[in-house]
Amino acid sequence: MQDLHSIGMKKGMLYETIITTINPDKTPNAAPMGVICKDKGEIVVYLHEGSRTIKNIKNNRAFVVNVLKDPLVFVDSTLDNLSEEYFLEFKDNYAVKNADAYFLAKVNDLKYIEREDQFGIDKSYIIKAGVEEIVVDNECAEPLNRAIYGVIEALVYLTRKDMINGETEKLYNLRMKEISRIVNKVGSKKHTKAIKKVMDAWDEDK
Ligand SMILES: Cc1cc2nc3c(=O)[nH]c(=O)nc-3n(C[C@H](O)[C@H](O)[C@H](O)COP(=O)(O)O)c2cc1C
Repeated sequence: MQDLHSIGMKKGMLYETIITTINPDKTPNAAPMGVICKDKGEIVVYLHEGSRTIKNIKNNRAFVVNVLKDPLVFVDSTLDNLSEEYFLEFKDNYAVKNADAYFLAKVNDLKYIEREDQFGIDKSYIIKAGVEEIVVDNECAEPLNRAIYGVIEALVYLTRKDMINGETEKLYNLRMKEISRIVNKVGSKKHTKAIKKVMDAWDEDK
């Protein structure tokens, strides 16, 4: 049986994906969204109020999660919508044509929450969805997780530690804190262990 582990998604990890949904006029919509792998057959997404994606999911109770690493798909779907030739029809929904893998997700539970975060009051929906059917177009499909990039970025800064001072040092301190926050949020235990080592080395002799 195919499950999320078959496309490299691991329990508890957050992946950056493109979610495709259907607009009220039946045209496709695409947007980058984080997807948490809850189990081999279940995902959780946190969607801020106001996006087209959340409106469409509330209307249709289904959406498609696309696993891909094309930087232009991420940028174009953030700045605007993708043009129609990017999409293909899939199970009465739409997927991104050149995705490495994609799957249909059906909403099991949708809850509205308000909570305070670093940007103020966050109004969001927590959606739990079941994985219905996975299509793999590239056997090397690998879901995008930011943690390794954070660890590498922090390591590069660490190797420059002796070369910086003053304003640059202040800037690097802020960046290291932010990278550490992200790695701890989206990474595995191994990423957490790795970034802790880097942060300990960064804080040494300061
Ligand atoms: C990598 C990435 C991940 C994102 N993850 C989320 C997310 O998990 N939840 C959310 O509400 N917005 C997220 N966003 C922001 C939405 O993609 C953005 O608000 C988008 O414009 C919504 O488009 P839409 O109105 O077509 O749905 C993310 C953006 C990027 C670039």
